[in-house]
Amino acid sequence: ADTAALETQLLAAIDAQGQLADSGEFAAAANVDHQVVVGLLKSLLASEMITTEDIDHFRYKLTAEAEGYLGVGSPEVQVFNAVPADGVTLADLKKQLGAAGDVGFKQAMQQKWVAIDKSGGEPKVMRKVEAVQDRVLDVLKAVAAGQESGASEAELAALKKRKLVAAESWKTYRVGKGPAFALQRKKAATELTAEMLQKGTWKEETFKEYNFNALGLLPAGGHLHPLLKVRTQFRKIFTQMGFEEMPTNNYVESSFWNFDALFQPQQHPARDAHDTFFLTKPAATPASNFPADYMQRVKETHQHGGYGSIGYGYAWATAEAEKNLLRTHTTAVSSRMLYRLAQEGFRPAKYFSIDRVFRNEAIDRTHLAEFHQIEGVVCDYGLTLSDLIGVLQEFFDRLGLSKLRFKPAFNPYTEPSMEIFSYSEQLGKWIEVGNSGMFRPEMLRPMGLPEGVNVIAWGLGLERPTMILYNIDNIRDLFGHKVSLSMSPSAPKEGPVGMARRLMQGLRA
Ligand code: PHE
Repeated sequence: ADTAALETQLLAAIDAQGQLADSGEFAAAANVDHQVVVGLLKSLLASEMITTEDIDHFRYKLTAEAEGYLGVGSPEVQVFNAVPADGVTLADLKKQLGAAGDVGFKQAMQQKWVAIDKSGGEPKVMRKVEAVQDRVLDVLKAVAAGQESGASEAELAALKKRKLVAAESWKTYRVGKGPAFALQRKKAATELTAEMLQKGTWKEETFKEYNFNALGLLPAGGHLHPLLKVRTQFRKIFTQMGFEEMPTNNYVESSFWNFDALFQPQQHPARDAHDTFFLTKPAATPASNFPADYMQRVKETHQHGGYGSIGYGYAWATAEAEKNLLRTHTTAVSSRMLYRLAQEGFRPAKYFSIDRVFRNEAIDRTHLAEFHQIEGVVCDYGLTLSDLIGVLQEFFDRLGLSKLRFKPAFNPYTEPSMEIFSYSEQLGKWIEVGNSGMFRPEMLRPMGLPEGVNVIAWGLGLERPTMILYNIDNIRDLFGHKVSLSMSPSAPKEGPVGMARRLMQGLRA
């Protein structure tokens, strides 16, 4: 049925008589199920167009068993009629009447219409009265006709107990006009629009209430970004090699931990705003936050050296170390960890991190101002460059990049330093895949790491291998505001072996 038309009809009926006496009658007249009308009433009530008052209804109806007696009479009358003048055995009576015989005999006995006579030897059922009236049948017929008012409460209760009638109750409604009554429902606005504000029409609008219980649409599924999938694979490689993950949760770092702790001189070009994003608010981390004795040793080493070094020979400025920046490498995290390791009492350790870093770079198809670094650090007594090469070989083997070459390089904090190259069969050339080195004593000794402890470390980007793996040739399609959301669901997920195979293929492509 057209509920809109029904609603119009309902509102007109309420308007015509000032009220609707009974929604049940309205439903019957309109030839619709009462529940349909109840649905309309509920929504009209919610928008305060109507008021309602319950009308309670109650009636008895016949059970299936009782329906069966309508044509043949109540079982007790059936029993009475079946008893001949000279009586009948109970067995014969039951044979004749079936199930009705049982109940009927019990009832007829109670009514004292019949009795058992044992005087003739075999017990017989005998009539005790001349004639009987089928009052039960009369009541059942009245109930069937909806006229049970002719029966007493006690009679109805008895039949209910005999499961011949059942009680049924329901509600209909008396409907009156509500404060927002109208002949047509005004569609409630679901949101405030710019137009309503401009024209002032919001004043006349009725707004739909928020349904805070609505469950909302279930998302079809969540997806990890390819960078996170590849990060997971690198994590696995590291953890399988026994590395612990470093806490990388602070993007904002002081120059002290990002540069000075790493023996990177304060005049170094990387410490220029052209290369590094410095914070304006808060612009500095007060030097009181740095361990005072350690800062003093860092200053001393920068200025005059020590541990076999002559230092840089410049005047180290606290203010320069206090400057806040967006960390330019995860080696800032490594420097904090190594300092902490020295304070806690040195033990050999293997650390890794994979997280975001920031550099003030010209953006192009392979460079962004932020990217992810993967960093591995191993600290132990007596480590050598061979250990570094061995660890790198194992690490890159697991990545599927087994053919490695190393090229001398320079980092302010490592000596020696090596760039890592991997050979691509397909391209027929060596591709740079990372940077590495042995941390300088000028960095480690001021931290308090014991004499004889060496630290080897390496770093690489997460974006490059991910781009190779997912066939993305512009970094802006991988990361940043231009990324298409459909990229994540479609990016495959796989284990390290599958990833290694694809990396090799990618390098060949
Ligand atoms: N921090 C270096 C970079 O940003 C990577 C690196 C880490 C080099 C550890 C040597 C040792 O490129």
